[in-house]
Amino acid sequence: MEKLTGPKKIKTAIFISGRGSNLNNLIKFAKTKKSPIIIDLVIANKQAKGLKYADQYKILKKIINFKKSKIAEQKILSILEKKKINFICLAGFMKILSNNFIKKFKGKIINIHPSYLPKYKGLNTSVRALNNNEKFSGCTVHYVNARLDSGKIIMQKKVKIEKNESEASLDKKIIKEEHKLYPASILKIFN
Ligand code: GRF
Repeated sequence: MEKLTGPKKIKTAIFISGRGSNLNNLIKFAKTKKSPIIIDLVIANKQAKGLKYADQYKILKKIINFKKSKIAEQKILSILEKKKINFICLAGFMKILSNNFIKKFKGKIINIHPSYLPKYKGLNTSVRALNNNEKFSGCTVHYVNARLDSGKIIMQKKVKIEKNESEASLDKKIIKEEHKLYPASILKIFN
């Protein structure tokens, strides 16, 4: 007899370039009953450390070299199509996706960024916030559009900067919040 399952979950790919703590966190979230997504694919642009989580949880992983980014994107699009992926979460993915790619997945690509956007787009967010004596930083989950870290904000969370805060201590506080904010944002989108 066919197993009774709930409504179909959204087939999702996670794109990474590094450590993969958000990937690990999203995989765990996706295994919960309340998760609207199922993670069927991990894409990396290099031998990223975080790929170990794809191995651990037996999720298909693909490493795509971005030396020729147009070709790389074409390869990714064909894998996404083959695997019937219809939602993408960028999680520390360090390549900028082209307008053409984004258009094909309009409204279906989201990203997590370690600042309280629109402040501190781009890299080295914590150092810049500290150098400017900000009172808080934070993290933001947003839709991806053609401009860097500028798409519509889904959810964001402030993190207080203490006196004598170091880059490492701030990063640690932010990543902890990221791990709550990313699943919460996905729930917000689909519920
Ligand atoms: C996170 O801080 C995320 O906001 C940024 O890159 C970092 C990725 O960390 N986009 P991890 O690889 O998920 O541990």
